[in-house]
Amino acid sequence: SDPLRLGIAGLGTVGVGVVRIIRQQAALLSARTGREITISAVSARSKGRDRGISLSGYAWEDDPVTLATRDDVDVFVELMGGEDGPAKDATEAALKAGKHVVTANKAMLAIHGQALAELAESKGLTLRYEAAVAGGIPVIKTLFEGLAGNEIKRVMGVMNGSCNYILTRMENSGKTYQEIFAEADGLGYLEADPQLDVGGIDAAHKLAILSSIAFGTKVDFDGIQLEGIERVSIEDITAAADMGYKIKLLGVAQKTGRGLEQRMQPCLVPETSPLGQLDGGTNMVVIEGDAVGQIVLRGAGAGEGPTASAVMADVCDIARGWSGSVFGQPAASLETAQSAQSQAA
Ligand code: HSE
Repeated sequence: SDPLRLGIAGLGTVGVGVVRIIRQQAALLSARTGREITISAVSARSKGRDRGISLSGYAWEDDPVTLATRDDVDVFVELMGGEDGPAKDATEAALKAGKHVVTANKAMLAIHGQALAELAESKGLTLRYEAAVAGGIPVIKTLFEGLAGNEIKRVMGVMNGSCNYILTRMENSGKTYQEIFAEADGLGYLEADPQLDVGGIDAAHKLAILSSIAFGTKVDFDGIQLEGIERVSIEDITAAADMGYKIKLLGVAQKTGRGLEQRMQPCLVPETSPLGQLDGGTNMVVIEGDAVGQIVLRGAGAGEGPTASAVMADVCDIARGWSGSVFGQPAASLETAQSAQSQAA
């Protein structure tokens, strides 16, 4: 069959990782999917920058919208990031032009995911975003496919590696939040806007997406009760440790008697629990289904290989011809959080 031809916008860490996998694993990918996966064109903010890979085999586009709508592109791979602006413009343009979309953009999906999913559905296209939540952990596929026979009771987890790094370093070093924040920033562990990490916003974007899939509700970022880690003190951490607990920036989404509850805030977790033992920049997602019980997924939530791994899983789904709905059920039929609340109440 014909090759599946990609247009990749954004050649930072993740984009370079995707190009590497497509080059290095070409035989394996085509054996698994039955199609050759190729790259037609790429775009990025800076053309000249040395990325440690050759891009000479691919057409270069300065404008991601032009890239997304090229005739020789079947799938637009959006790895630019950002809630609005070029990422959203190019994603919309791609869908309108009949291209499938794979994106790692949690901010865009948390705010515009509903509209984008409806646009994709209206065109019979696939919009996939495994890399948007918890990096390399295949949590979206787990909820969407592996646990399709379950009513999901609760989804929770540590979904921002940078915050977990800071909290772990505070525990181990006894240094203050301010000192460790500066250290993490110096090591390049924080987003360009660190507030996205330490304010809990990045993690809340991810929780909003998971929550929608788990509970069949419209993505509701504004419905999340949100608190970051900036006010966690060494005294808090020490007091928690004295009682056998650790402090984690924990996201929880569940249906309770009071309705759909979504929280992202610093929480006490028993230090002997899986979440309590999650040190450093790692992620963990705990899912509870009525039939399966509890599942614990752990792995790298960021970085070149892990995030590219998740992007490629989506690309392979499309190569295999797997399509279908994108937010756990057709986007057009998702409930609002309010109706989920009245139903639960
Ligand atoms: N800053 C994010 C994190 C990157 O630490 O989890 C991945 O979304």
